[in-house]
Amino acid sequence: MKENKSIDWAKLRADFPILDQQVHGKPLVYLDNAATSQKPRAVIDALVRYYERDNANVHRGIHELSNRSTNAFEAARVRAAKFINARSADEIIWTRGTTEGINLVAATWGAKNLKSGDVILLTEMEHHSNLVPWQLLAQKTGAKIAYIPVTGDEGLLDLSKLNSLLTSQVKLLSLVHISNSMGTVNSVAELCARARKLGIVTLVDGAQSAGHCPVDVQAIGCDFFAFSGHKICGPTGIGVLWGRQELLDAMPPYQGGGEMILTVGYDKTEFKHAPHRFEAGTPDISGPIGLHAAMDYLDVIGRENIWQHDQELAHYAYEKLAVLKNIRLFGPKTGRAGLVSFLLKDVHAHDVVMLADQAGVALRGGHHCTQPLMHKLGVESTARASFYFYNTRAEVDRCVEVIREIQKFFGG
Ligand code: ALA
Repeated sequence: MKENKSIDWAKLRADFPILDQQVHGKPLVYLDNAATSQKPRAVIDALVRYYERDNANVHRGIHELSNRSTNAFEAARVRAAKFINARSADEIIWTRGTTEGINLVAATWGAKNLKSGDVILLTEMEHHSNLVPWQLLAQKTGAKIAYIPVTGDEGLLDLSKLNSLLTSQVKLLSLVHISNSMGTVNSVAELCARARKLGIVTLVDGAQSAGHCPVDVQAIGCDFFAFSGHKICGPTGIGVLWGRQELLDAMPPYQGGGEMILTVGYDKTEFKHAPHRFEAGTPDISGPIGLHAAMDYLDVIGRENIWQHDQELAHYAYEKLAVLKNIRLFGPKTGRAGLVSFLLKDVHAHDVVMLADQAGVALRGGHHCTQPLMHKLGVESTARASFYFYNTRAEVDRCVEVIREIQKFFGG
């Protein structure tokens, strides 16, 4: 895959103040982007500007600061709709992140529409955030959960089982767009189209995709799409749940409180339409404003360019790691997203991450909130390097050099 030469990646990297530092006396090599991304100056400035100039509660006041704050908050919603090509900003619900987005669907759409005997179809590579909410719902409703299997270390969905899994009992298909532990890119448009033909509602977990590749919810053809701000250069604590208007309007509220109501009596309350029906209480206001700056920032670079860059780095890292002895690599050999998961023979993933940290390289080790998948693969954990557009080939070289040193330290 060819790098886009018209983009000055080094200049972009300089937009991230945090990257220019030493950790344990070594230059920081930040390769934990699937956990959270770093923030460019444009996002930090937007947050500072908001708190220095405009801070006030939204939708309540008629004074100047409240108007400014409300306008910025709602402008961010319009921007988020454009970011994923939603038909309307009314389809954008602010959440704390992907996890809350999925929980919201489970607690509202799920509680209203699922009953005993229905089936929720997931995949074996789901993050806990797309597993546990459905297990909780299944316990409450008597619905069952079924899984599209994963092939093994290559981390692909085994679609040969799909026909038999898509029974008339299936009411919901909820699946991850890009796997956080394997780097697999799922054919979400194809799977949603198959589900849709059978009247199955679909949810796509876009936590690892929204900031890394172009996302068009209408082209994907799903019913719900959830993502987090902090993984796409925005602040923590803010995320987006997109849902089709007709589904959102038929869903009961998520939480009760101020701002989600039309009228309240001692006996009865009338609720607003989406999205405000789902946003009780004072929301995170600076979050959408910071996220707005992040979405603008990413789309100036172009997510197709980011995608190309991330994939190129992941491919480069995979090839360099694949030639090491005593290493087990996870995820697809080709077409992977910007991360590589691996295990060194006889070395715990946590030891790899701890020693890499001493060399200034930030990795993640653990089950990556995909414990059932780890168990299926017969491992407790993996070490993971995950990339973003501000990472460089030199950083991949440094990471591989450090991994080689760790192998030597353990006698490999
Ligand atoms: N889901 C995030 C990760 O994969 C936290 O690291």
